[in-house]
Parts: sequence; C-alpha cells; structure tokens
Amino acid sequence: MSAVEIKNIVKKYSTKKTSVTAVDNISFTAERGELFGLIGPDGAGKSTIFRILTTLLLPDSGSAALLDYDIIKDWKEIRNIVGYMPGRFSLYKDLTVEENLEFFATVFNTTIKENYELIEEIYKQLEPFKNRRAGKLSGGMKQKLALCCALIHKPKILFLDEPTTGVDPVSRKEFWEILKRLKTRGISILVSTPYMDEAKLCDRIALIQKGKILEINPPKNIISKFERNLFAVHSPEMFKLLMDLRSYSKTETCFAFGENHHLVVNDSSISAVDVKKYLESAGHPKATVSNIEPTIEDCFMHLMSK
Ligand SMILES: Nc1ncnc2c1ncn2[C@@H]1O[C@H](COP(=O)(O)OP(=O)(O)OP(=O)(O)O)[C@@H](O)[C@H]1O
Ligand SMILES: [Mg+2]
Repeated sequence: MSAVEIKNIVKKYSTKKTSVTAVDNISFTAERGELFGLIGPDGAGKSTIFRILTTLLLPDSGSAALLDYDIIKDWKEIRNIVGYMPGRFSLYKDLTVEENLEFFATVFNTTIKENYELIEEIYKQLEPFKNRRAGKLSGGMKQKLALCCALIHKPKILFLDEPTTGVDPVSRKEFWEILKRLKTRGISILVSTPYMDEAKLCDRIALIQKGKILEINPPKNIISKFERNLFAVHSPEMFKLLMDLRSYSKTETCFAFGENHHLVVNDSSISAVDVKKYLESAGHPKATVSNIEPTIEDCFMHLMSK
C-alpha cells in the first residue's frame, strides 16, 4: 500500500470563454515514509493536485487513493489522515498563536496536550509568542505555526503547498530540517516548491509543467541522466553573448542563469576551448567558459525545451 497513488487525473478549469487544463492526465505514486516533491513553476498545477488529493476539489476524471482510501468514496477518512498546509496564509490573523492551534485541534476533535509531543520541537520556538496575533508574526514564524496546525491531529500524510515561498533563507533551511525529522516519525510528506535548490532535499521529485509530468526520479538520478556537456559562460556584454550563443551551430539550449549563461551543446566532443574560440570570433574576446555540473534547474530547463 502506497501513501499516495494517483492515476490519470485530469482537471480543467472552464469559464464560458476559456478552458485551462490544470492537471493533464497525471499519474504517480508516493511511498509511505517518503519525502516527495512536486517541482514546477507558477501555474504548473501543483496546488490543484494537492487540493484534489486532500478532497477539496473533485477531478474531472481519473482516480486517487491515499493509504488505500479513495479520494471520492472515502473523503471523510482522508480528511482525518491528511494534514494540509495550503499555499497562502491559512491561519486566522486575528487569533493568537495559541488560539489558532487550539482551533485546529478542536476541529479534529483533539487537544494540543494530546498530540503535543509531535509538534513540541517546532512549537517550543513559538511558545514565547503564544499570545501574539498570527497576523503579526514574521514569515518564518507563520510558516512554523501553519505546520503545527497541520500536524496537531497526527496526520499520516502531510501536504505542504509551497511552504517556504516568501520565507527567508535561514527559516527555509530550518524548515527542511524539520521535515527530515518528521519523516523519521513515519509521516509521508508531499511538498511543492518552485525553488529548485529545495528539490534536491526530497527523496524523489516529479518535475511538472503545464499540468504534465516531465520526469519522476530521485534528484541525483535526474542529474546523472543529463548526459550533456554544460558550460557556464560569462562576458562583459551578457545580452549580446546570449544572442551569439543562441546562433552558435553547436548550441542545443542556452539560458540566462544568475550571473552566467548556461550553455548545453549538441555535440559531446565540444570543449570549453572550442566554445571560447567561437566566442572570440563572434566579438567576445573577454568571454570565460567553464565546464560545470548540472543542477536540477538545468535538468528542468532542458526537459522543458524538449
Ligand atoms: N479556480 C481557478 N479557476 C480558473 N483557473 C484556475 C483556478 N485555479 C488554478 N487555475 C489555473 O490552473 C493552472 C494551474 O494552477 P495551480 O494553482 O494548480 O498551479 P500551481 O503550480 O499551484 O501554481 P502557483 O505557483 O501559481 O501556485 C494555472 O494555469 C491557473 O491559472
Ligand atoms: Mg500553487
């Protein structure tokens, strides 16, 4: 029995004028105890998938089961076994930290005391502010409180929709440490993120774009399958450089990537020296070219361009 098994799910949003296929025939399985990531840009369909799996939205077709409970037939059981932290702020701003937590515990017919042990590590950091209104907390604190609220009924599967969006880097790192520890407690975790650097912290990831899965694998397998020469290229004239690299006959893809451009070539015999020679002839005497290892983002960009 898997934590999540989703088969051929389709979901369209239609108005009189337009129709968007938010989830386009998606299937995947997340195992028990796994930390599974849905990685994709804005509008990829991440939230729609989470809302279907947490029984808040009905799919148009396809089926899904959580620990063998069917998302349609067994929606009541599912609501008891899942914890859900929605993308946007899900707390009651005018309630205090403690009142928010109490509210979520009451909804699930439990008490803070009964399940305190599961949230203790996270809640300890919030306790000094327990009388502060949730609306007045920092981003990282809100995120921790939302996580406590999603955990207070001891769910078996946790759905976290972009939990670190808009959160500072230190809190992001801390949050992922917490997830790792929750995993050791046997909780299955599905997390969505647009941050590619977080992808590598998952056991397996599904790269999704426009409602379709491009690839599902452990992050290191996605990287090892890249099998292309990748170069980081820099020159004082970055825009012209991008144009010139895109018209290079050996270029497969080239994207701006932080301070460099990342160039994938279509011929494995091409070296950094060859690229440098081409760039010199194209009017970039100061260009630097270095062979680099791909990141998940490179893999994603490459899969997207196919
Ligand atoms: N209620 C809705 N009505 C109409 N279209 C919608 C609705 N919700 C989502 N969509 C559209 O469906 C597609 C998938 O949206 P979804 O929110 O699932 O993506 P996402 O990956 O969560 O993106 P984001 O990063 O913006 O949260 C997008 O094109 C979005 O505009
Ligand atoms: Mg979303």
